[in-house]
Amino acid sequence: MNRPLSIAIAGLGTVGNGVLRLLRDNADIVAARAGRSLAVTAVSARTRARERGIALSGLRWFDDPTALVTDPAVDVIVEVIGGAEGAAGKPVVTANKALLAVHGAELALLAERGGAALGFEAAVAGGLPIIKTLREGLAGNRIERVSGILNGTCNYILSMMRQEGREFADVLAEAQRLGYAETDPSFDIDGIDAAHKLAILAALAFGRPVAFADVYVEGIRRLSALDIHYAGELGYRIKLLGIAQRSDGGIVARVHPCMVPGTAPLARVDGVTNAIVAEGDFVGRVVLEGPGAGAGPTASAVVADLIDLARGHLTPVWGAAAAELSPDASVPMQLHSGCYYLRLMVVDRPGVIADVTAVLRDFGVSLESMLQHGRAPGEAVAVVLVTHETGEAAVRTALARIASLEAVLEEPTLIRIEPG
Ligand SMILES: NC(=O)c1ccc[n+]([C@@H]2O[C@H](COP(=O)([O-])OP(=O)(O)OC[C@H]3O[C@@H](n4cnc5c(N)ncnc54)[C@H](OP(=O)(O)O)[C@@H]3O)[C@@H](O)[C@H]2O)c1
Repeated sequence: MNRPLSIAIAGLGTVGNGVLRLLRDNADIVAARAGRSLAVTAVSARTRARERGIALSGLRWFDDPTALVTDPAVDVIVEVIGGAEGAAGKPVVTANKALLAVHGAELALLAERGGAALGFEAAVAGGLPIIKTLREGLAGNRIERVSGILNGTCNYILSMMRQEGREFADVLAEAQRLGYAETDPSFDIDGIDAAHKLAILAALAFGRPVAFADVYVEGIRRLSALDIHYAGELGYRIKLLGIAQRSDGGIVARVHPCMVPGTAPLARVDGVTNAIVAEGDFVGRVVLEGPGAGAGPTASAVVADLIDLARGHLTPVWGAAAAELSPDASVPMQLHSGCYYLRLMVVDRPGVIADVTAVLRDFGVSLESMLQHGRAPGEAVAVVLVTHETGEAAVRTALARIASLEAVLEEPTLIRIEPG
């Protein structure tokens, strides 16, 4: 067998610790698959004295993770610290989606010029092998659409809101107590984390430079138990999805709450689980579902990359050499079209619905159905409208006009309806 691959792990938190454990527990099968043993020889973290529940004896300690890059005894760096900045110069395996989404184009160029590998299977949807699936398994296909539940925290919150009829703030507070949500949850609930992952998936699926700044992002803060209830009544579930698809003129990449039919594969995925649907012209629909985070699943993905590296299996970062990437433009959200769920709170008095539908008519938005429950003359009632396919710009302008009607009591809710 070849000499061991010498691995340095930068970051010994959830993921770094998981990688150490996996490489120890499964050393024999990993070595067989890699054709050589994978030996962790050096580690770096912030606080040396911290008890980590795993023996570090025999491993060289580095206070400064960047020093690993120049250390001649290190073959490959597993970067599992986080943040959007990093150091390259050696083969790197990372779980860092922010880094890839923001700097992925430059990193790919650096990797290509230096002939170095950059593995990031763990950066998107933890244990799901979606990077390999898109880049290698489905490499013969023209991918038309990739959509998925890419953030376990949001999916957990939405599942609990639906199952228990509770409000967003209440479920978020509980998720924080249980450790499913961060103390500062904004990265997750405002959709940024999902957008980082979607930017990576879109680059791979469509063979183009990663374009995080072009991803349209809306989070789940404004969703109410009422909308989740009405979605159920209409046969839908509300999910935070990341969707990238081809359309006339280029690629639309967007993260926002969606109403998906209750029978769609993504509708049934509850709790912290992730799921991704990829649609290729020859293969059809491929669905991956499973744990999107956590020590074990993320380590599983990191080690898959390490095995590739140990084998000398080098794939271009975005599936094709930088010069071969397609120049497909990003299409702005204003040019999106689809069906919409709109919910208004209005004063229940004659003529209000007529005023609302007149505005929609003026902007060419046609209605498929309308829902209004109960009557409490003079008081607020919810009115739910479902549109036929219409343009985003038209529906948003119409909604702004509707919001300014005197009988409309609060900011209307808009949720896009998706096939799932
Ligand atoms: N957790 C998951 O399930 C998961 C899933 C997919 C991707 N990821 C990604 O994986 C990466 C790591 O996540 P994690 O959950 O493992 O994070 P974590 O538990 O917060 O661990 C971060 C580690 O980095 C170390 N660190 C922080 N700043 C450092 C510095 N300046 N120099 C050296 N070490 C430093 C910390 O040291 P101390 O321990 O001494 O504080 C800690 O060991 C992130 O990019 C994350 O987005 C995580």
